[in-house]
Amino acid sequence: MAAKVKTPVSMIDPSQLLRPEPSFNDKPLEAFRDYSIDDNDPIKERVRRTYYTMHTNVTVDLVKQKREKWLKFNHFKSTIKDALIKLNELVDESDPDTDLPNIVHAFQTAERIRQDHPDDDWFHLTGLIHDLGKVMAFYGEPQWCVVGDTFPVGCKWADSIVYGQESFKDNPDTYNPKYNSKYGMYDPHCGLDNLLISWSHDEYLYQFLLHNKSKLPEKALYMIRYHSLYPWHAGGDYRHLTNEKDEQILKWVLEFNKYDLYTKSEKMPDIEALWPYYESLIEKYIPGVCEW
Ligand SMILES: [Fe+2]
Ligand SMILES: [Fe+2]
Repeated sequence: MAAKVKTPVSMIDPSQLLRPEPSFNDKPLEAFRDYSIDDNDPIKERVRRTYYTMHTNVTVDLVKQKREKWLKFNHFKSTIKDALIKLNELVDESDPDTDLPNIVHAFQTAERIRQDHPDDDWFHLTGLIHDLGKVMAFYGEPQWCVVGDTFPVGCKWADSIVYGQESFKDNPDTYNPKYNSKYGMYDPHCGLDNLLISWSHDEYLYQFLLHNKSKLPEKALYMIRYHSLYPWHAGGDYRHLTNEKDEQILKWVLEFNKYDLYTKSEKMPDIEALWPYYESLIEKYIPGVCEW
């Protein structure tokens, strides 16, 4: 018989410390990012399974293989708009906060940013496209290699990673002395840019934007690159590896993240009515057919 298990300390999400004012939307803030285990709850069970598979399989070697595979950008060609429409078919299996197609989340995030930052059109577009790297799921990548929180490989797993150390018990890197110490394969304060991060939609979209010569500002690129690195930006881990530049990046990522997380409400944006505005931003910052 399945039983509801009390949440151990390692599963209390560190982003709770960073939550914005309760008025941000209708959903109570403590209801977001609930990773407690309850095998009677199909969404919680789906989320847990996705993360355990990820934490078992993501190794230094696997991340290198995925970079080799995806950073050639020879998989397909598509405009940003068509890629976003494709996301309509994707429900993120790692996300405990929404069961809606990803394009709804894209517009919810973008529109909420637009309310608070009406003049920063690059920021609106960043909200709209931040999860676009998830299109990898339509080209043979399993979701555990595309979605979810990220973390560095090649050094000790941080305690703040969701589901904790226990979820890495079947990962071969956990037992590899080259990779399982505090610094592992890195030098102290080498900087985030020099860490090998678990392969996901963040790094893919960041590299995609460089490859396709987008005109988005540097802060947009970093918001995208590290938005899922919760053990760093919310958990406070890995400070022995980061450097001064990363403190600036952290401010940008935290500003972005409140919109990414707390706009996952059930309110449906009027996507058809919003397209003309966002098409004008795509035209300005990343026009035409891109290489994916
Ligand atoms: Fe994301
Ligand atoms: Fe997102």
